[in-house]
Amino acid sequence: MNDTPTLRAADGKPALSRRTFMMTTAAGAGVAAAGGAVAATPEAPANPHAGSQATRVTVNGKPYELALEPRASLLDVLREQLGLTGAKKGCDHGQCGACTVHVDGRRVASCLTLAVKTDGCAVTTIEGIESPDGTLHPMQQSFVDHDALQCGYCTPGQVMAAIACVREGHATSDAQIREYMSGNICRCGAYAGILEAIREAAPQMRRMEGARHA
Ligand code: FES
Ligand code: FES
Repeated sequence: MNDTPTLRAADGKPALSRRTFMMTTAAGAGVAAAGGAVAATPEAPANPHAGSQATRVTVNGKPYELALEPRASLLDVLREQLGLTGAKKGCDHGQCGACTVHVDGRRVASCLTLAVKTDGCAVTTIEGIESPDGTLHPMQQSFVDHDALQCGYCTPGQVMAAIACVREGHATSDAQIREYMSGNICRCGAYAGILEAIREAAPQMRRMEGARHA
């Protein structure tokens, strides 16, 4: 009994048995391999930066010259290349705010921002907001004072969004704070503390930044 499946042509005649198919393709592979021997001359080592884009960016006051893959997100570059893991990856789709950082003073979802687009920009992350002497930023201190966190995963993004919220002039009432912080989700539900923290830090920030710009 021949149990080898047979391919049949449209007229029903055997066209190619599996055995024949395997033998012919193996022979073809041999030809290809033999032909490949000619092409197997050692090639120049691949350039690890091929296709990458030179990007100059200042992060937390420190200048960097990076060779970036054009589709790399700012969040991945910050976390994986620069070791700045404060900004968190919550959803990676612009829906939770855990990755919020500032680019030229404006808050952005770094998971949705192409890193190459920050060429020539100043990026600030949660690691860059305390004073050089280690004193916490008033917004950070206020989050601590008001126990505005539980697991803390959303907190870096909340703090960066809250600072931007005050600077934008969107922290003049509780309703306004809620609205302009609505892009930052806290799965632990620490919203009451977050609101109190922003309410208290806002006037301190205005005084501090007003004095700096006076
Ligand atoms: S990780 Fe960027 S918005 Fe959620
Ligand atoms: S403190 Fe846990 S997600 Fe906000």
